[in-house]
Amino acid sequence: MQEMNRADLIVGLQWGDEGKGKIVDNLAQKYDYVCRFAGGHNAGHTIVTEGKTYALHLVPSGVLNKKAINVVGNGVVLSPKDFIKELEQFDDIDGRIYISDKAHLLLPYHAEIDQARERLKGDKAIGTTGKGIGPAYGDKITRVGHRVGELLNPEKLCDGIMGYFKINKPIFDAMGVSTPNKEELLAELKEYKEALGSYITDTTLMAWDALDSNKRVLLEGAQGTMLDIDHGTYPYVTSSTTISAGACSGLGIAPHQIGNVIGIAKAYCTRVGNGPFPSEDLGEKGEYLREKGHEFGTTTGRPRRCGWFDAVAMRHAVRLNGVSNISLMKLDVLDGLDEVKVCVGYEFEGKEIDYVPYTLEDIKPIYKSFKGWEKSEGVREFSDLPKEAQDYILELEKLCGAKVGIISTSPDRDDTIIRD
Ligand code: GDP
Ligand code: IMO
Ligand code: MG
Repeated sequence: MQEMNRADLIVGLQWGDEGKGKIVDNLAQKYDYVCRFAGGHNAGHTIVTEGKTYALHLVPSGVLNKKAINVVGNGVVLSPKDFIKELEQFDDIDGRIYISDKAHLLLPYHAEIDQARERLKGDKAIGTTGKGIGPAYGDKITRVGHRVGELLNPEKLCDGIMGYFKINKPIFDAMGVSTPNKEELLAELKEYKEALGSYITDTTLMAWDALDSNKRVLLEGAQGTMLDIDHGTYPYVTSSTTISAGACSGLGIAPHQIGNVIGIAKAYCTRVGNGPFPSEDLGEKGEYLREKGHEFGTTTGRPRRCGWFDAVAMRHAVRLNGVSNISLMKLDVLDGLDEVKVCVGYEFEGKEIDYVPYTLEDIKPIYKSFKGWEKSEGVREFSDLPKEAQDYILELEKLCGAKVGIISTSPDRDDTIIRD
């Protein structure tokens, strides 16, 4: 019997910004389809190649491979305005990009609601990207959202949204959220139809056809495991299923059609926004990592909080996602440190634990110390890495319970060690 064709999956294992964009772009050269399945333009995926840097938010990171078809799946919340703007940097996109008719629309009022809620929360704010992600997914779950397919009939969609404004008027007024009038809204929706109409399709059927005809399909996760709505550090999370399970519902493919799960992790750890981060380093080492790693948000420009690799959270992520292989990113950022630390356990309610409890607040990290190394930057063979860096990676494999198959030593597409 012929072996079943499966889609491979890229997933973030920490709090996002692990370097997913670089690896998707690197691997995309070997795939026919690259599909996003969750999140929206809160994502910021960076690709550096031939001296040029691209920051992608909604467009899948396969876009630089001229042969790959890029799919925005139904699990994504799509801001037409931001998507259109992002597409402007590519002049050869026709026939290479498709959007699910079932993806939910994220419209400007969602961003206003997001920002108003954050303001009202004061010091309890989540530190969202302010892009409207929570309100758009909220509308989807409470069944008052609108979908991309509706853009094909702007008059009907406009009436639907005006009805939604009417019901929500008291809340919007209290929060200071503005809404367009009917003429403005209709004009906006017609513009979106004009720009995007030809890309809208049933991407679930498309994915099935691709798999049935033995095409190579790569699924591109957004955000990271610790930001997952169920398994992350709730409520300091995003509003979608960011783990590998989200790829099935976010695209419409069955679990048995998922093949390799490649988990992306930095060789240290970062988080942007609020919420617990046990291995955060608030001292000069954290500052060193931020400066050396250019740890400033791709989407919002905010400084990212920095700290040490958390092997407890990583084991949790490996298990949740069914990781077959880890891509260890930004090893070069640790170059030049005398000592590199790894969080190997947590102290929680006076006890030492080796798992992720339901909250990470009030956790104290337990560290293991490693000897640093001089230089790994730009190295492309495992055997050319300094011995201490090799030892660090081999120990991480043991601590995390997964093989490190790819190691990245600079932002450039080609500065990548493929071990497996
Ligand atoms: P993503 O959201 O997971 O795609 O990651 P981001 O693009 O938001 O953040 C990762 C950042 O690290 C980007 O600026 C990348 O160009 C950069 N980067 C990726 N891999 C490496 C690496 O191995 N070394 C260094 N120094 N930078 C890297
Ligand atoms: P990529 O795909 C890092 C964080 C925000 C905030 C929380 C909720 O580039 O890895 P939201 O706007 O989603 O409601 O914000 O989630 N966040 C990310 N952090 N990388 C991302 O995406 C993120 N997307 C959302 O900073 O803490
Ligand atoms: Mg990012």
